[in-house]
Amino acid sequence: MNLKKIILMMLSVGILALGGAYFWAVNIPALEPISKVDSTTLDSESVENGRQLAAVGDCAVCHTKAGGESYAGGLSLPTPFGVLYSTNITPDLNTGIGNWSEQAFQRAMQEGLDREGNHLYPAFPYDHFTKVSEEDIRDIYNYIMSLEPVEQVNQPNELNFPFSFRPLLAGWKLLFLNKKPFQPNPELNDEQNRGAYLVKGLAHCSACHSPRNVFGAISEKTFFQGGQPEGWYAPALGVHSTSAAPWSIDNYLDYLFDGWSEAHGIAAGPMTPVIEHLSDADEDDIYAIAEYLGTLTPEVKQEEIDRVVEKVSAYDWVKTETIGSSTLTLDDGLLNGEQTFVQNCVKCHKERISKKQPVSLGLSSVISAPTPENFFHIVINGIKPPYNSGRQAMESMGIAVPKDKLVDLARYVRKRFSSQSEWTDLEAYLEKSTLSNH
Ligand code: HEC
Ligand code: HEC
Ligand code: HEC
Repeated sequence: MNLKKIILMMLSVGILALGGAYFWAVNIPALEPISKVDSTTLDSESVENGRQLAAVGDCAVCHTKAGGESYAGGLSLPTPFGVLYSTNITPDLNTGIGNWSEQAFQRAMQEGLDREGNHLYPAFPYDHFTKVSEEDIRDIYNYIMSLEPVEQVNQPNELNFPFSFRPLLAGWKLLFLNKKPFQPNPELNDEQNRGAYLVKGLAHCSACHSPRNVFGAISEKTFFQGGQPEGWYAPALGVHSTSAAPWSIDNYLDYLFDGWSEAHGIAAGPMTPVIEHLSDADEDDIYAIAEYLGTLTPEVKQEEIDRVVEKVSAYDWVKTETIGSSTLTLDDGLLNGEQTFVQNCVKCHKERISKKQPVSLGLSSVISAPTPENFFHIVINGIKPPYNSGRQAMESMGIAVPKDKLVDLARYVRKRFSSQSEWTDLEAYLEKSTLSNH
């Protein structure tokens, strides 16, 4: 880190602390608890709309732990500052949010405060939910109040000091929380604006697909330039995409509806639950999201995509090939990588004669990404495709391919299937991927 960065960081820490102290002194009021909402009085249309919106917002993805009851919380979210646990948001009066008024819920979604007035951590993506309309938040509230209450006490967070000190978040909000409501872009049509509203707000796509600064905040300036959620790389989207083939609106629709695109491959890792939950969303909203994503780049013709698919497929392994027989210049490590590839991967990843086979590896952003973590996750743990994708699973290669062969394999696959520069720091990425629980 250079001197300028260190000074900047110290300054920001100072501001964070001051901001924290100021807002702490100001003291944010608690909102009155309410008695249990009678779910039979809720407007059923609003509840149904709320259910579909909650699916777009991934509320259940984060608020449900593995094997746990939906919305009862307890999922661990590792961050650079320590581990956070999502909370119980079922309408249980004692352990959930059953005694929260709609006003308290609106305030949580838009200002990141709990009913008692404590600051919430932005792992709860309220920095995006500030863009969600009051009516949509009301519908989500009604939906949540219609759920079965689950009694489950929240697990305390395990954050390192000083991050465990909630009042500091007041300073964070002062610096990074943009409370401006969503502004439609006059150059876009209604459907595209609806998509933008969802992408930037409730669906919080950029929470994963944009980089974060040292304080975990996202900037408009680096929107969709690629992020690092949960030890994965969430690819840059739009103009910054490194995908071999460009993305058409139809490609986005295939990917968002089915978790798979003929020209780009499968959705894996943290994108899997996003796709699964979108299947509960209003279809029109998925069309709107795809239409909006389509506005990020110039219009793409199908012929253009076909041309890239054909070009990239030419890198596929063909039957007549033997180790070292390609025109690539391979050093010893790369030759080892090729051997591992032939022994373990060619069975499925070869010249494509059936649509059931995976797409050419060169089309996958796993291979064209600037960093190799998704590659390591996938080879070590396999792929469990989104249940609505209809694609086959890829078994875990973690045992078949010993760890010491994975770096050569990664180098080889990158060289063979991508025209991007070599991956660097492979050992470090491999180490991190092995530690992750994905
Ligand atoms: C990326 C993960 C994530 C997503 C997505 C998410 N939340 Fe949360 N949420 C959290 C975490 C973590 C907390 C606890 C934050 C803290 O301890 O400060 C939280 C806290 C909350 C709280 C405050 C509860 C309390 O007891 O203080 C509410 C209300 C809430 N979320 C509702 C929602 C709703 C509604 C959605 C969907 C629109 C949603 N969340 C989506 C992670 C998430
Ligand atoms: C929890 C984090 C997370 C959220 C939220 C998320 N994504 Fe993703 N997304 C990922 C990851 C990780 C990948 C890479 C998956 C892979 O390699 O198979 C990905 C892949 C993608 C891809 C494929 C990109 C490529 O080049 O292959 C698209 C398109 C995409 N996401 C769109 C979206 C949209 C639209 C939203 C919001 C509706 C969204 N994502 C929300 C994490 C996320
Ligand atoms: C038994 C068959 C099989 C074997 C063996 C196999 N894979 Fe896969 N692989 C799959 C399937 C199925 C998918 C899911 C994608 C699909 O259906 O399009 C996949 C997907 C992938 C992807 C993601 C592509 C995308 O769509 O984004 C990568 C990268 C990958 N495999 C690498 C490897 C490597 C490296 C090896 C060898 C160590 C290997 N695979 C071995 C079946 C296999």
